[in-house]
Amino acid sequence: MVCLGNICRSPLAEGILKSKLSRTDIVVDSAGTGAYHINKKPDHRSIAIAKINNIDITNQRAREFMVKDFDKFDLIYVMDNANYQDVISMARNQQDIAKVKMILNEVFPNENLDVPDPYLGGDFGFKNVYKMLDEACDVIAKKINSDA
Ligand code: 4NP
Repeated sequence: MVCLGNICRSPLAEGILKSKLSRTDIVVDSAGTGAYHINKKPDHRSIAIAKINNIDITNQRAREFMVKDFDKFDLIYVMDNANYQDVISMARNQQDIAKVKMILNEVFPNENLDVPDPYLGGDFGFKNVYKMLDEACDVIAKKINSDA
């Protein structure tokens, strides 16, 4: 799960997807394309909306997306079009590029919709982001869980 800061959207996506997976052999992680918040906890508003939904993301720490993530992961979900461009710019070949998906395309195929960056907004933005990610992660988890 990749966003810009790895403190608002992708930590939520990581926590939500983990909560929906029944398989224990799947590694879910998150990262940011920017280095501003390395080693920081998720934003307190992401922690709060996760907690309301019985998900604990307090132990996550921000890290930067790295080229070796293309080797470590089969699927790389980005939150918005800017993240997509930033991640694709690090790809080494078509195989890397093929792993990168816009997360809301799971719900709205081929529309390339952004999960809006809630950082500079209020709590409503985080509630909205949570709902979008919850729906997308439902689709992803159903596919992975049935793919045993
Ligand atoms: P995120 O939100 O990409 O969802 O973690 C942001 C957090 C911080 C900044 C931008 C986006 N920032 O510019 O500091």
